[in-house]
Amino acid sequence: MSHLIAPSILSADFANIQRDVEMINKSEADWFHVDIMDGMFVPNISFGFPVIKAIKKHATKPLDVHLMINDPDRYLQTFKEAGADVLTVHLEACNHLHRTIQAIKALGMKAGVAINPHTSANLLIDIIADVDLVCVMSVNPGFGGQKFIENTYHKIASLREMIRATKSKALIEIDGGVDMNNYKKLIDYGANVLVAGNTVFSSSDPGKTISELKKA
Ligand code: DX5
Ligand code: ZN
Repeated sequence: MSHLIAPSILSADFANIQRDVEMINKSEADWFHVDIMDGMFVPNISFGFPVIKAIKKHATKPLDVHLMINDPDRYLQTFKEAGADVLTVHLEACNHLHRTIQAIKALGMKAGVAINPHTSANLLIDIIADVDLVCVMSVNPGFGGQKFIENTYHKIASLREMIRATKSKALIEIDGGVDMNNYKKLIDYGANVLVAGNTVFSSSDPGKTISELKKA
């Protein structure tokens, strides 16, 4: 399978959200990456359900919703109703991750687990067979435009080996600081999905930048 590109809406122009959604629709991007922050799990607040619904209204590609919120169980059904296709929760934010993953799947969404830069990939060994996606945070979550953390490569290698050994179908997604200098190396290490916010939206030609990121 060739890799997927998921532009992060966090870096879009919220006063022109329909325009930016249409740009992604027309581009070679595969998913919309939608970052939800609660001001508690991460030191920032992004946006909530009305904005997700507005994106969903115009999007012709799946919404990959990344929850950076404490105790996400409270809102799984509401994210489904707002239009999430893939729903990712943080390992660090769940007391009963296995239950949460099963609940996401029972609602008809793909289920993902995200890990912060300090969290070992080895902690996923007993959940890897149950998830559709592992989101490896390559920056400390909370903000777009941060510097990529190099330790990420070795986490991709560990996960690739874990996925092989357990015959898991999980995709490896990399989130944070993906740019034109590191995307090829990330794919070589075994990444399946690349999130890109700043790299796409600060580009003078976002559609062309997405095409570049699709080339491996
Ligand atoms: C960071 C978010 C990312 C962010 C990535 O907390 O989870 O999805 O939008 O943005 P860039 O690509 O600019 O690092
Ligand atoms: Zn994200």
